[in-house]
Amino acid sequence: MTNEAMESFTNVVDLLRKTNPQHPVYCIYPHVYRQTVEHFVNGFPGRVLYAVKANIHPEILRIFTEAGIREFDCASLREIEQVRESCPDATIYFMNPVRFKGDARTAQEDYGVRHFLIDHPSGLAPLIEEINPGNSVIFARMAVSHASALTNLSAKFGAKPENIPSLLKAIAASGAEAALAFNVGSGVKDPEAYAYAIGIVHRVLAELPFKIRLLDIGGGFPKSYPGYVVPPLENYFERTRIAAEELPLADNGELLAEPGRALSAPGMSAVTCVLLRKTDRVYLNDGMYGAFWDLRVKGQLEYPCRAYRNGELLQGEKKAFRVLGPTCDSDDELPVRIELPADIDVGDHIEFGTIGAYSLSGRTDFNGFYSDRVVTISDATALPPV
Ligand SMILES: Cc1ncc(COP(=O)(O)O)c(C=O)c1O
Repeated sequence: MTNEAMESFTNVVDLLRKTNPQHPVYCIYPHVYRQTVEHFVNGFPGRVLYAVKANIHPEILRIFTEAGIREFDCASLREIEQVRESCPDATIYFMNPVRFKGDARTAQEDYGVRHFLIDHPSGLAPLIEEINPGNSVIFARMAVSHASALTNLSAKFGAKPENIPSLLKAIAASGAEAALAFNVGSGVKDPEAYAYAIGIVHRVLAELPFKIRLLDIGGGFPKSYPGYVVPPLENYFERTRIAAEELPLADNGELLAEPGRALSAPGMSAVTCVLLRKTDRVYLNDGMYGAFWDLRVKGQLEYPCRAYRNGELLQGEKKAFRVLGPTCDSDDELPVRIELPADIDVGDHIEFGTIGAYSLSGRTDFNGFYSDRVVTISDATALPPV
């Protein structure tokens, strides 16, 4: 099934020929997303919660649900509302230790949420006040980072491993089921990072007088980008599976993962248009405050791309260009020079692939530029630039 309310084109050439877009367009390749989700769900040795912060577009939620995602990691009540609207039967996890007052109550009473998270003893009482602990699972989030991650997700949230046993005991004493979560970072380059964190979990669990059932190993599963090449996901799944085998979980113990980037990056491209060319500088209709928001993170440098002129692929000799966005901010420039056809010019289009993660969800309307046109690509043989 496709969403009939959305604009759909056979492929990007069809989009360009029919509409010659002057504003940025995000293209969803449903077949790429389906394959990506099925690959992850079949390969990961546990339950897969999609971290919707990476891309919460309703069409993506719909495709992911169709492809086998039933559980969603949300960070706010707004995300929970959006997921519930798109996926009425979803199981939703509210996995942020910081919430607005009353939101945990609303999440539980109005949206059936049963899974919550804290990372400090001070977070327990305010949460328990709002939910029925007897019907809830509360995760303790452990801080653990790894040098191979693009971003550290334990600098702000997470209790030190030595404080986790007492936190888990306090959760259990409250009447809720105690569970454990960690996040080794985003864009984790080395599968060993998960084994390292699970090793710490092993030591923590050995200090507990009871066994936990659920271990959530977070997100961080990466996607290769030009200049940021990572091992296949199988290596992460296998390393995790082996490391977790020895864990003293309860008999019905389960692993959970919260992938965002690995699921949302592959099936989306952004089609931009050249507004101005000055020698080796190309100014696009979108930039670091829009589709390229994720490139502010050091390490990931660019996306694969291809150029078009008058709806035809533009080929020929290439040259490295500085690529800049449309805003008046000097920082609105892609971090590295991009190889483009040497004669690229005003009105040409450039499609950037694997841009589904942290693009739509990070874009701003700075300077009045805001890309909001999302279309689907119907030809199952069409592929975004890779
Ligand atoms: C709690 C939590 N879970 C999951 C994710 C998803 O991470 P990734 O997109 O690297 O898989 C993040 C990213 O910020 C996060 O903070």
